[in-house]
Amino acid sequence: MARTRSIYRCAACGADGPQWTGRCAGCGAWNTIVEERTRPAAASTAAATPSRALPIADVESEGWAPRPVGIGELDRVLGGGLVAGSVTLLGGEPGIGKSTLLLQALSALARRGTTCLLACAEESAQQVRMRAARLGALEPGLWLVAETDLSAILAHAATLAPDVLVVDSIQTVFDPELASAPGSVAQVRECAHRLVRAAKDADRATVLVGHVTKDGALAGPRVLEHVVDTVLSFEGERHHALRLLRAVKHRFGPTSELGLFEMTDDGLIGVPDPGRLFLSDRQAQAPGSVVVPTLEGHRPLLVELQALVAKSPLATPRRSAQGLDSGRLAMVSAVLEERVGVSLAGADVYALAVGGVRVVEPGADLALALAMVSSVTGTALPADLVACGEIGLCGELRQVGQTGRRLAEAARLGFRRALVPASAPEPPAGFEVLRAATLVEALAESGLRLGSKPVGFPRAVPA
Ligand code: TYD
Ligand code: MG
Repeated sequence: MARTRSIYRCAACGADGPQWTGRCAGCGAWNTIVEERTRPAAASTAAATPSRALPIADVESEGWAPRPVGIGELDRVLGGGLVAGSVTLLGGEPGIGKSTLLLQALSALARRGTTCLLACAEESAQQVRMRAARLGALEPGLWLVAETDLSAILAHAATLAPDVLVVDSIQTVFDPELASAPGSVAQVRECAHRLVRAAKDADRATVLVGHVTKDGALAGPRVLEHVVDTVLSFEGERHHALRLLRAVKHRFGPTSELGLFEMTDDGLIGVPDPGRLFLSDRQAQAPGSVVVPTLEGHRPLLVELQALVAKSPLATPRRSAQGLDSGRLAMVSAVLEERVGVSLAGADVYALAVGGVRVVEPGADLALALAMVSSVTGTALPADLVACGEIGLCGELRQVGQTGRRLAEAARLGFRRALVPASAPEPPAGFEVLRAATLVEALAESGLRLGSKPVGFPRAVPA
């Protein structure tokens, strides 16, 4: 049998050497050396299955139909379900609910007669079984092995021949032939390559779990994105129950779908109608609250933005953005000061997207500005009004994409009016739009009165 050999290659310049070093002797870069395995090429394999060029329409497309998992929000993001022979990477921060989601997915698949193998390299079989019992996932077609050695996992898969294999997680499985530690780039990459090869050979849908930290620092998912067919990202605020599932890369379908779940004591529950979830506790008559119809992929989401502008005791007032982009908050604050005359000097500004979502699109600028002015003036906006539009540095309002879809969702949830840029397309029937070309016009349309003198802090603070 051909023997494998390890070489150590620099990820930056490609230079190789016989052992690991902290610094590349070729280019001088630090921490770029990665272990690689070489196996003398078996002369026969290339000749055994010669490839053939075909007219594109003659290429067989059968066998690529997705198999529905049976969890609506997951199937929506997968574009119908899991494809046989495909490899999916589910990435997310530790504790966000990846193992829970996959356990529920596998039990739903097993319930439909699919044989599933869960290879658990992080928890003991007993731990997983206890969780499965709690989630009602003790299905006869769901098999479990607690194992960290990749060769053993592949051997189990070969024996059981499951339709779906889940490896939880790719950072904790290891290939004993490699000298590097589990979780290192070399291990993660080599294990993923072997799992991908096995998935294609056996025509088995494979899902890999990958942990990422907030700054994406951990070795793994980044390296894997090129190797796998689909990359799903599972996100959410740890202190909120809401979880968002998106496809970052998808070879079998669109990447624009968003799946929404709520983490409960009974596991993850799909949220098919998020509108009510986000707006249920809203105090519409309070100053500083504005609803923005955002778009996550193709999915319209109505999110409440709140702002509180408060007199600051600090020499350098605070600007706090939660669930919003702090750069956009700074920009909107500067436009309000320079183009509208709202003085924020001496004021702390707190801005928040309610419900644990992150709203980073520029289309939320107008709602953010309105919420800030509403807080400064102490005047609430009409309860049935939503606002969307991007603010330019000259104080002008710019149209955002798919206004129609956004307003249709707003209308469905009971809103009747929208404040939009002048160039926005016609609204759905029965919906009133207030058009404004600039932020100053928008403030006038919204009914917020700034008066003739500049408002804000410290000048406008009542004694
Ligand atoms: P887990 O799926 O283990 O996260 P990951 O695999 O991404 O690291 O789940 C993490 C959290 O979810 C855990 O802290 C507890 C919580 N949880 C619930 O709230 N309800 C449940 O039914 C389950 C199974 C977990
Ligand atoms: Mg886990």
